[in-house]
Amino acid sequence: MDENITSVLSEKRTFSPSNDFVKQANLNKAEYERLILKAKTDFEGFWTELAEKNIFWFKKWEKVLEWNEPFSKWFIGGKTNISYNCLDRHLEKKSDKKALIWIGENGEKREITYKELFNEVCRFSNALLKLGVKESDCVVIYMPLIPEAVISMLACTRIGAVHSVVFGGFSKEALADRINDSKAKVVITADGGYRRGQVVPLKLNVDEALQRCSSVEKVIIVQRTKNKIEIKPERDLWYHELTADSSLENKAKELDSEHPLFILYTSGTTGKPKGILHTTAGYLLWTTVTTKWVFDIKDSDVYWCTADIGWVTGHSYVVYGPLSSGATSLIYEGAPNYPDWGRFWEIIQENKINIFYTAPTAIRAFMKAGVEWIKKYDLSSLRLLGSVGEPINPEAWMWYHENIGRKKCPIVDTWWQTETGGILISPLPGITVTKPGSATFPLPGIFAEVVNQDGNPVPPEQGGFLVIKKPWTSMLRTVYGDDERYRQTYWKRIKGAYFAGDGAKKDSDGYFCLLGRVDDVIKVSGHLLSTMEVESSLVSHPFVAEAAVVGYPHDIKGEALCAFVVLKTVEALHAAPLLAEELKNHVAKEIGPIAKPDQIRFTESLPKTRSGKIMRRLLRDIASGKQTTGDTTTLEDISVIEKLRENEL
Ligand code: WT7
Repeated sequence: MDENITSVLSEKRTFSPSNDFVKQANLNKAEYERLILKAKTDFEGFWTELAEKNIFWFKKWEKVLEWNEPFSKWFIGGKTNISYNCLDRHLEKKSDKKALIWIGENGEKREITYKELFNEVCRFSNALLKLGVKESDCVVIYMPLIPEAVISMLACTRIGAVHSVVFGGFSKEALADRINDSKAKVVITADGGYRRGQVVPLKLNVDEALQRCSSVEKVIIVQRTKNKIEIKPERDLWYHELTADSSLENKAKELDSEHPLFILYTSGTTGKPKGILHTTAGYLLWTTVTTKWVFDIKDSDVYWCTADIGWVTGHSYVVYGPLSSGATSLIYEGAPNYPDWGRFWEIIQENKINIFYTAPTAIRAFMKAGVEWIKKYDLSSLRLLGSVGEPINPEAWMWYHENIGRKKCPIVDTWWQTETGGILISPLPGITVTKPGSATFPLPGIFAEVVNQDGNPVPPEQGGFLVIKKPWTSMLRTVYGDDERYRQTYWKRIKGAYFAGDGAKKDSDGYFCLLGRVDDVIKVSGHLLSTMEVESSLVSHPFVAEAAVVGYPHDIKGEALCAFVVLKTVEALHAAPLLAEELKNHVAKEIGPIAKPDQIRFTESLPKTRSGKIMRRLLRDIASGKQTTGDTTTLEDISVIEKLRENEL
């Protein structure tokens, strides 16, 4: 935050939606303009209208919004259920429509209709109830991307339990921390999951994690890989046995609008991950509405968002948004390059995917793999493309547009966060003239602005902080169990506005361009990592005295991690090359492979200010091979920098 954000990019190319797309779009220009105006002149009326049109309510609300900065309550007095909205309400018209198409890594396929999904969710809801899971109890879901993962989420929300999905690529340590923070009673997992032909031992990780967790009473295991696992009879239950005699009759609970829906952990600047808490009605409303507006979902569409359910994109735009809209959502268990780089395009061809939503890091990897993988397949079913997770550089945008979209598909570059619950800034595909590298404009109802430290708007083309000035329905309600951290993290830095750490600029046409994170949270392959977390993991190694981790630009990952490490003894340095590998693996084991540093550099000391704060800006320059720029006068010992530069191991 102590650095100015400078923006150097200036994009002149623009792309208008085709007439054909415009004609059929869910949202047209006149309606868009009406909505923008309505949100400005009658804020609560705007949300009322959306909530009446898009959601099934058991009971209507009495009050739209109670705003007590930074705490919001929406649709107070209303009763609804997200599982009901995703399933029951479609049964009359769509019971035979495919809700999910699942592709396993080994090529297996399961197609599940709305009626079948409803049955499975009811069956599993009853099983959870029988185990004694109650409203507001927390259930951790640690699974591969298989239909049972989606069924588990919907069953939890059906009975009012709060799910906390932990990404299956996370280590047992990360899992244990998350279980302990949420005090989960039940863990749903699988014997294993497939990843590039290997079995990920999920159940084994759960067993080891639970040695550190006392809250968990039951573990439910889906049989997926049939690898050998240990069963603890008093604690462990097979999913298929548990549900075998379960009834299909289950009435969705009528839950308060503000009933807690899920917790999802995201990285913060301090070691401990933050449990982002979302609640029922507001989240449901915005994920439903944005699916309709941004993805232009039609009844005939087959939609594929490539995210895992362990991330918020998987929650909002694999499960809840699409199912609440009655769409067909495809899920794929495996890696994009398994068995080869043609896998995604083959899935698109075979399933006639119409809408495809993925991340810039994947797009860059496909660019590198080469267009010959794409040319083999027929992608003519595609009509809309999306991108999420980090800024998409104009070069990748153009590549996506030309090679995947065949210059015909609008691209929606959607900006949002775990905290925002749903998309806040994005093109509307039938309306917006897009520019590569820009997420374009805030959606109706979203009051975003680019401001300086004092909260005042900055002039066009100048970098500043991206803030949201009014509450929205799918905003996080708090950091689970820590209201003060919620206030400090998001509402203290810029007065009167929500700030979650991104720099941005508006260009001279008012287009929003995202400039990346401004604090010590960085994005590697589209996933947020806290440099603090990686540092504390390094310091937990017996040889390490101190560590500072920074990001540097990387062609495919977007950013990669460089760790500057001070060892406890000089002797340890003799083993440096081996030790570097050992430390990398140590982090991978403690946090998960995505957090593994790309470079380890040993140093005698770290550059610090006189008050003892590590000057990461300088380390970032070194890691990215740049000259040190900017002020170094607060540095305690300038020679540290010289030594670091000499010492390139
Ligand atoms: C951070 C949130 C949102 C779902 C996946 C990530 C970055 C996200 C964009 C975009 C530029 C983007 C931001 C944001 N980000 N989308 N279209 N353009 N940056 O959720 O892990 O909570 O990460 O991702 O830095 O703050 P998340």
